[in-house]
Amino acid sequence: MTELASPLALGRGAELANRLAKAALSERIAGADGAPTEGHLELYRAWARGGAGLIITGNVMIDRNHIGEPGNVVVEDDRDLGGLQAWAGAVHDTRPASQLWMQINHPGRQTPRHLTPRPVAPSAVPMRAKIKGAFAKPRALTRPEIESIIDRFAHTAAIAKAAGFDGVQIHGAHGYLVSQFLSPLTNQREDAWGGTEDKRRRFAIEVLRAVRGAVGKSYPVGMKLNSADFQRGGIEPEASMRVVEALEAEGLDLLEISGGTYEAAAMVGAKRRESSQRREAYFLDYAEQVRARVKTMPLMVTGGFRTRAGMMEALSEGVDVIGMGRPLCVEPDLPERLLDGATDGAERVDLETGIKEVDAFMQIAWYQRQMHRLASGGRPSSGLGRVAAGLAYFMPQRGFPPIAAVRA
Ligand SMILES: Cc1cc2nc3c(=O)[nH]c(=O)nc-3n(C[C@H](O)[C@H](O)[C@H](O)COP(=O)(O)O)c2cc1C
Repeated sequence: MTELASPLALGRGAELANRLAKAALSERIAGADGAPTEGHLELYRAWARGGAGLIITGNVMIDRNHIGEPGNVVVEDDRDLGGLQAWAGAVHDTRPASQLWMQINHPGRQTPRHLTPRPVAPSAVPMRAKIKGAFAKPRALTRPEIESIIDRFAHTAAIAKAAGFDGVQIHGAHGYLVSQFLSPLTNQREDAWGGTEDKRRRFAIEVLRAVRGAVGKSYPVGMKLNSADFQRGGIEPEASMRVVEALEAEGLDLLEISGGTYEAAAMVGAKRRESSQRREAYFLDYAEQVRARVKTMPLMVTGGFRTRAGMMEALSEGVDVIGMGRPLCVEPDLPERLLDGATDGAERVDLETGIKEVDAFMQIAWYQRQMHRLASGGRPSSGLGRVAAGLAYFMPQRGFPPIAAVRA
């Protein structure tokens, strides 16, 4: 029987020490120019001590003119190679067995207006009415621009590898650019990049191929993908399943399943279908269907896991890796305590106010605040007030000095 402590060979020589992964969490502690900081070192040392076999970074931007949030790390050339090496080193020196993967992302239209007044997207489709004010209307990418973004993904991946990260994960979920190409709602192109399901899939596949070309055959490459967008007109589970099959055919090393977008925040538990509410993990029903169709590609599922029983259920259904995000902001050592039997699950945190738009934002603000406490050498606090966390979100993040000690 697969246990949480069972190692997992991913192929290409990579092995995860156990089945627990820290999912990508946008930290928002980079320097003004997108450089990693001492805060990253502190935060990731805490997660390395915590014992997850796989640690995935918060989304790292591939273009400094298109970032998802202020304080995101940007890697578009090797100017911060020393800082990135220090970041990878912080994890490996703390726990050599931990795999550290960099998540790489382009936000497309999902970037706040004050950061990107002229966002780009597959088509000029604005965000939905209720949240439209915060996001400028995107313009459609030209074909050469699409090619150039694909090159950027590849280049960022090559720098991650050069800096000592053990793998990369392409962010293909949550309504960012890759997922905008996949969705018929946001991709209304009628050229080689849209118009049919195959063509909408092409961007994800070309990004994967370009990244693979840049990092070589023996380096792990994963992708995070939506089971569905949870929106009328967005990608549906059946179409998403065919993306999964195409990714397997391309030799993807680890598929992470999630769901939702800024417009419908299913990734943090909003919009759950009643049929899936009996299980703690949000996307387990979908993952089971994927497992039935895709026999060999390793599968990670993220969203909702809180108890050992819930995790064991997923492993018994053929899920290979259990991803956790929010619990590790409050209890960075949770993996280790699950692995050694000291606990059977995460502390329960309930931030719901009942107002949908506030709730989605609160999930981000409150948990980011916990990351900031860890990043400045402090401890998280489950008693942290929601109002304080909400206000802190809008303050400039201070106290995370640039990495001074550049490694040779
Ligand atoms: C503060 C915060 C930041 C996040 N940043 C990212 C990110 O950069 N990339 C990503 O793929 N998902 C991101 N997510 C989503 C998580 O990876 C995860 O899918 C989600 O929190 C559900 O898992 P959980 O129930 O274990 O928290 C973020 C979630 C939160 C709460």
